[in-house]
Amino acid sequence: MTANELRKHYIEFFVSNGHVEIPSASLIPENDPSVLFTTAGMHPLVPYLKGEKHPQGNRLVDYQKCVRTGDIDEVGDETHLTFFEMLGNWSLGDYFKEESIQWSYEFLTKELNIDLSKLAFSVFSGDDDVARDEESANVWLKLGVPEDRIAYLNKEDNWWPAGGKNPGPQGPDTEIFYWTGSDSAPDIFDPENSLWVEIWNNVFMQYDRTSEGEYVELSQQNVDTGMGLERTTAVLQGKANVYETELFVPIIKAIEDIANATYSGNERAMRIIADHIRSSIMMINDGAKPSNKDQGYIVRRLVRRAVRQFLNLGLESGGVETVAVAAIATLSNAYPELEDKRAEIVAELTKEEAKFSKTLKKGLGEFEKMYKTAGHVSGEEAFILYSTYGFPLELTEELVREKGADVDLDIFQLEFKKHQDLSRAGAGQKFAGGLADHSDESTRLHTATHLLHKALKLVLGDHVEQKGSNITSERLRFDFSHDTKMTVEQKAEVESIVNTAIAKKYTMSFQDMTVDEAKEAGAIGLFEDKYAQMDGKVKVYTAGSDSEVFSREICGGPHVDNTGELVSFAIVKEEASSAGVRRIKAVVGESAQKTLGARG
Ligand code: ALA
Repeated sequence: MTANELRKHYIEFFVSNGHVEIPSASLIPENDPSVLFTTAGMHPLVPYLKGEKHPQGNRLVDYQKCVRTGDIDEVGDETHLTFFEMLGNWSLGDYFKEESIQWSYEFLTKELNIDLSKLAFSVFSGDDDVARDEESANVWLKLGVPEDRIAYLNKEDNWWPAGGKNPGPQGPDTEIFYWTGSDSAPDIFDPENSLWVEIWNNVFMQYDRTSEGEYVELSQQNVDTGMGLERTTAVLQGKANVYETELFVPIIKAIEDIANATYSGNERAMRIIADHIRSSIMMINDGAKPSNKDQGYIVRRLVRRAVRQFLNLGLESGGVETVAVAAIATLSNAYPELEDKRAEIVAELTKEEAKFSKTLKKGLGEFEKMYKTAGHVSGEEAFILYSTYGFPLELTEELVREKGADVDLDIFQLEFKKHQDLSRAGAGQKFAGGLADHSDESTRLHTATHLLHKALKLVLGDHVEQKGSNITSERLRFDFSHDTKMTVEQKAEVESIVNTAIAKKYTMSFQDMTVDEAKEAGAIGLFEDKYAQMDGKVKVYTAGSDSEVFSREICGGPHVDNTGELVSFAIVKEEASSAGVRRIKAVVGESAQKTLGARG
């Protein structure tokens, strides 16, 4: 049975038993800022589990898009996925244990024709708070399940959410396991035997836990069930893992083709790419875009981790599009809107890929150097990898772990954060170039800073030197040595020079040089900039070509490829910063067009 068939059978079965099919809610929770993503089918239904009336009634069924990000680092093994789909049916104060268990039994043994001898069950064992769930066990026994195939487990295993320690609707559950061994299933169910794979969870949500830790009965008794679509598909097809099902095979095939490598021997890299691109597609589809915060940061991490795995396969850039197109094709039957949004989604992914693949190799070289020098990487160094090469902190952690070394996560993250905060607060800005993130806008503003620096020298004189720089995603701020207020004409002239440089669409390129070579080549900038220095060499960025150099400056980057990407430039403020130092704030792109337009 294919995943599409399983989805369809499931919905039809519960609709025929009085349930109304509801659409999957967005992956980005509409009313719950406490979590980044929808993690289970019940998540969008919390208000209704607590007693609010659902407009579609009290028996619901759906397939829900879910993301769990806690295990991103585990992806690549046989079981972990970040994006998955959950089949679920609900009773909102309607039927309870008996009907729920009966329908699960009927769906599995009659609809899917699974032999009862391949199934086992677990039930809540009871503890000081809540009694043993005899009722569920009795329903299973009545249906013909042998006693030895029922295990009784505690709150860690048979309660949802596991452990029962957090506030919110919850309760005991009964879980259904499928025997995946090639021999016939053992008579006695041993939940520790990993050949028994959990496929379905029926939760009897009748409690709410208060913040004082007490379980209070909800106003209604609910049923919340969840069946993992990918895993169940694999199990029913007798496949060793989800990557061998039709949900992933075309994606893996696309990776093999574009990277010119075989799955066999590269399983981990290819699984990571497949999972991460698939997830990113679904996140972007629901409105998340690669960025430095919230959901966008997760998308960024996923894409960048995939890009790095492509590099492991020998492909530096350009693999993402093919894989994304293949992944969309596997998902568009269930989510037809993906076809309409394909171009937009692919564009977001390839933009992020292009951005990261530019700095990835250099960053990996830098990482190796850091690691070789000290045998570990400090939080401060992790911050350099982040701010200069766009390495998400978690990627650096992973690189260290791949070396077989431990990361003291607390200290590492604390130190990293300290540097991030310092950078945000402005200290050390001079050296970091003030580039706290790698969003498109800040990269454009960074390039604009170079053009501005050069234009100021041309208009005010060669005494102009950078004294400080700070870039947010909205504007640049540039401090420079000059002791009188700029006139309106001077400002207009500077703007005009920068706008001409933009209109000329100069290429931005860089070369590694010694400091002396850089001075010789006429580069300006901070010769002591330690972030630009590697092996006694500095990076020198040139706007222009060999025959026409507009600006040449020592800098760690990154920059746009072409000054035309800035579109427009406008000064929004010129003021004194300190004695002998002036400060300019300026914008690019649409904001600049607006500013210039408003001046008439
Ligand atoms: N909410 C339950 C789960 O996620 C069904 O397992």
